[in-house]
Amino acid sequence: MKVVTVVGARPQFMKAAVVYRVLREKHREILVHTGQHYDYNMSEQFFRELEIPDPDYNLGISGGTHAQMTGRMMAAAEEVLIREKPDWLLVYGDTNSTLAAALAAAKLHIPVCHAEAGIRTHSRTNPEEINRICTDHVSALLLAATQSGMDEMAKEGLLERGRLTGDPMYDAFRIWSEKRSPGDFRLKLLSKTGEGGTEAVPDRYCYLTCHREENTREDGPLLEIFRGMESLDVPTVYPVHPRNRERAVRLRDACGFRKLILCEPVGYLESVCLVKHAEKVVTDSGGLQREAFFAGKKCVTILDFVCWPETMVSGRNELSAPKAEEITEKLARPQQVDPAYRPFGDGHAAEKIVRALEEERMTV
Ligand code: UD1
Repeated sequence: MKVVTVVGARPQFMKAAVVYRVLREKHREILVHTGQHYDYNMSEQFFRELEIPDPDYNLGISGGTHAQMTGRMMAAAEEVLIREKPDWLLVYGDTNSTLAAALAAAKLHIPVCHAEAGIRTHSRTNPEEINRICTDHVSALLLAATQSGMDEMAKEGLLERGRLTGDPMYDAFRIWSEKRSPGDFRLKLLSKTGEGGTEAVPDRYCYLTCHREENTREDGPLLEIFRGMESLDVPTVYPVHPRNRERAVRLRDACGFRKLILCEPVGYLESVCLVKHAEKVVTDSGGLQREAFFAGKKCVTILDFVCWPETMVSGRNELSAPKAEEITEKLARPQQVDPAYRPFGDGHAAEKIVRALEEERMTV
């Protein structure tokens, strides 16, 4: 079997890292990086640390409006697909890279396998929701990480193409979350001039990530989140996505927040280590919500929609508006989840994903 895998943004790399190891035992994989994420610490660091082979193609496409980025990626992905003539296109998640590759392949009658299918937030203003819906509907094989993904597929008449594999992100967490300890690395601090020095990971801290369009379009939401974190009794470690670096540094400096440690994005091994050792987690990332769940940590998610209902049990993960008081009030609530509750599978999703590709190849 020949499989073209297209990745492009940070949350896809760790999933491709667990799947390629199984896929390449028996099959040929051509790895394509769209270039959507291009900073060293958003991309190459992941390839190195997780020992992902160099991409066979790097399309070098990033930035611009959603339509510009997606359109340019579609044209470039089409060229690769015509040349490689794969049995499958494999894509992950909900980024513009996912949608662009899926559309290009579907129009060439190349079957598309969408891993992490069936997620619905029911928020049409969330750009990733459009990507999820369109990708699912043009895909021949829909692999759900959890039962709720299968339930959503059923509502849209997609269940015939669906299979429950478990979450490859849980595989990745199991494999890599013990590889670093907080003493192994230093945080690269952010400053207005860009030269911020480094700092050790504090003994006690909360872990914050925030990069969604909904929370970073203007100052208001981030300022509220910062006010909430500043009022906690432990410092906050916040690795800042490049899209809101300028805003985050400016707001911190203008308001004199002293408990906020703003730093460069950290690699995957450092991020899962930071989750494991954090007191609590505040995030707007779908991936980090799950990692907080895997690590047994209290999480407050700054979104007005649920991505992963499985994490929203017994107080473990709660939604909050970007409002300081609501965030801190929800962070303070207790959580206790039965360790036997494992909705994300058994840590062997990669094997199930490859098996699904092998079995369904005959029928598409
Ligand atoms: C994308 C995905 C989102 C995912 C997130 C993970 C879409 C629509 N969104 O959002 O689902 O959760 O990745 O991080 O695909 N930039 C850099 N350096 C980089 C990458 C981006 O400076 O390495 C800049 C871009 O030039 C752009 C901004 O950050 O100005 C936003 O990047 P973009 O790729 O549009 O989306 P993300 O916010 O990263």
